[in-house]
Amino acid sequence: MNLRPKTLSEYIGQEKIKKQLEMFIQSAKKRNSPLDHIIVTGPPGLGKTTLASVIANEMEVDIKITSAPVIEKKGDIAGLLTSLKEGDILFIDEIHRLPPAFEEILYPAMEDFKLDIVIGGGSGKKRHSKAITLTLNRFTLIGATTRIGLLSTPLLSRFGIILNMDYYSVEELSEIVKRSAGILGVDIDDDASVYIAQHSRGTPRIANRLLKRVYDYCVSQGYEKIDVDKVRYAFNILSIKQYGIDDMMLKYLHTLIGRFGGGPVGITTLSLAMNEDRRTIEEVIEPYLMKIGFIKRTKSGRVALEEAYKFLEKGLS
Ligand code: ADE
Repeated sequence: MNLRPKTLSEYIGQEKIKKQLEMFIQSAKKRNSPLDHIIVTGPPGLGKTTLASVIANEMEVDIKITSAPVIEKKGDIAGLLTSLKEGDILFIDEIHRLPPAFEEILYPAMEDFKLDIVIGGGSGKKRHSKAITLTLNRFTLIGATTRIGLLSTPLLSRFGIILNMDYYSVEELSEIVKRSAGILGVDIDDDASVYIAQHSRGTPRIANRLLKRVYDYCVSQGYEKIDVDKVRYAFNILSIKQYGIDDMMLKYLHTLIGRFGGGPVGITTLSLAMNEDRRTIEEVIEPYLMKIGFIKRTKSGRVALEEAYKFLEKGLS
């Protein structure tokens, strides 16, 4: 069942972003122009793709969704760009991973809706190849990234709108859980939705996943309403921990505290000790641990904070 919102009014949270978008969308529609290009930043799971689909729906245009790592050759981008109709949206996830040679195709496309391509030629027939410029339909590029700092300056400067998404509050997540329960067709009380929200790491994707698993538990037991006791029981079976700390985060905390005395320890050392990709640590594990005050990044390395010690002590007792 699709729990994702389709319109801005259905979309819960990210109030600042919604206000800005309402204005930009109204203006673009009045001017009969496509939206300016948009870059969306923020940690994984906050609904960057969902937001792009909502924007397309509100603009009443089609959206093509792709991700930088699956783009293998220049022709892939050219194919996507030429397939767009007037006003359509091209969404590129993880846009910071686009190789520079591919980025360069985007510059004239974003700026002037032009696409430079070489036709003919190929190996040994260079003399017959010809460079031509195609005019594209006017479109909007929406790029999403977990690391805006990794975007090249020429690419970043071509986006007119920058939207920074942040973790959702417990209240917002609780509302999302209630909305999703409504779609699933199950009753849930306030304490239960707040409890699920508190274990969702500020992330709607996790909140909806937890709700579905609790719902499975209730269906299997023949319960018709979700209350907090049932959520507690289901979380116990599912090994869901306080704050929604998962196994990777637990391993990170055990390594930082157990092995390196709480730091400071450098990211390279930590990544080797955990046998975990550095980017996963920086982009997925650490942002949330910083947000809840478990760790901080300092010049001399990562440091564990009081809350992290308390959390581990509780788990160990
Ligand atoms: N489902 C997932 N994310 C949502 C959001 N931000 N608002 C409403 N429902 C959602």
